[in-house]
Amino acid sequence: MHLTETISSDRRAILRGFAAAAVTSLAAPAMAAETLPAAPTGAGGATDKAYWADVKRLYAVTPDVVNLENGYWGIMTEPVRREFIRQSDMINYQNTYYARQRAGADFEAVRTRVAEAVGAAVEEIALTRGATEALQLLIGGYNRLKPGDGVLYADLDYDSMQYAMNALRARRGVDVVKFDVPEPATRQAVLDAYARAIEANPKTRLLLLTHVSHRTGFVMPVAELARMAKAKGIDTIVDAAHSWGQIDFKVSELEADFVGFNLHKWIGAPLGVGFLYIRKDRLAAIDRDMGDEDFAEADIRSRVHTGTVNFATVLTVPTAVALHQQIGAAAKQARLRYLRDYWVSRARGFKDIEILTPDEAGSYGAITSFRLAGKTGKADNEAIVVKLRDSHKVMTVRRAGVAKGQCIRVTPALFTDEADLDRLVEALAVVTGTKTG
Ligand SMILES: Cc1ncc(COP(=O)(O)O)c(C=O)c1O
Repeated sequence: MHLTETISSDRRAILRGFAAAAVTSLAAPAMAAETLPAAPTGAGGATDKAYWADVKRLYAVTPDVVNLENGYWGIMTEPVRREFIRQSDMINYQNTYYARQRAGADFEAVRTRVAEAVGAAVEEIALTRGATEALQLLIGGYNRLKPGDGVLYADLDYDSMQYAMNALRARRGVDVVKFDVPEPATRQAVLDAYARAIEANPKTRLLLLTHVSHRTGFVMPVAELARMAKAKGIDTIVDAAHSWGQIDFKVSELEADFVGFNLHKWIGAPLGVGFLYIRKDRLAAIDRDMGDEDFAEADIRSRVHTGTVNFATVLTVPTAVALHQQIGAAAKQARLRYLRDYWVSRARGFKDIEILTPDEAGSYGAITSFRLAGKTGKADNEAIVVKLRDSHKVMTVRRAGVAKGQCIRVTPALFTDEADLDRLVEALAVVTGTKTG
């Protein structure tokens, strides 16, 4: 087919998709956040069908596929989406008249709101466009390294953070060491592996940790590891891109001085917003962003110089945070773990299936990956993802970079229900050859 034909037929398909999505979103009986009842507490809370059906009604989601690829980013609820549109309209209407007079104070209110919610002082938070920007500024800006020092990270860490750590070789003259997290991972095996890696690399001065792995969903025992590192004079930078909102915690519980977050995954803000955290007494260890002169040396905002941002995105953050708090971090965590357990407990016995995240309390949240024994390459895993999507209408994603081989990630969201997971389990039964389809 001629290239322009491909493009125009792709565009037609995309436009058809948009039209369908618009119809879906108009037809969806979206609920207002104000009418959402209080989250049920106690043992049965995560399985309370009526409550979680109400939460599901906050979302307008395509019925074309069961979307279990919610690790990429989090769909906005309708109340958040409406606020985002309202703010976008306001910005377009008021333009610089708003931006020059009021945006500064409004952004400060957002920063304060985020700091309160994550349990930090406002002086410890600076807004970014996401976790990548936050973590690149922390890794690149960390100024305590001397030539000959070492820095350490593992296979499960995010690719662009691995690149940023590798770049320290040229930038700071350090030795960069990468090691493999054991598989199957267990809390103790992981603690032992980091202890061995630190022991084997006594010049290490900086450690990168990923709180929730985007590859397997494993939840690292970050506080224990950061403490272990600190005892050896090693600073830790934590990648919390996937954790806050999926896992219930306050930033101080990580016991790390430097943490990068986004707000567009599990907090459900519009795409393109996050923040970095630097513990108050550690600000001097991170350089100003490209020599920023807008803010004082003692002001954390000098550590991020983004340029013009999407005002509407930032202004929508309080609405997303409010809904996160209304449902409650503990209730979200319990529900997401229940959804993960629902499919894992049914699929664990399937022929040749390897579940990469242990059923160990505290070691998983929503995300869990699997592979079929011996199928460690790209083609095999991609073929399964395509089959799940095209034959069974279940959306997952292939993940590379795990030392023992590629895998498939399954990520439910708050709008996922048991029927969606039954569809996944049925599909897995066929795909694994446990059942003929
Ligand atoms: C572990 C991890 N770190 C960092 C990022 C980057 O996050 P952001 O999209 O906020 O830049 C992601 C995104 O998927 C991630 O999974």
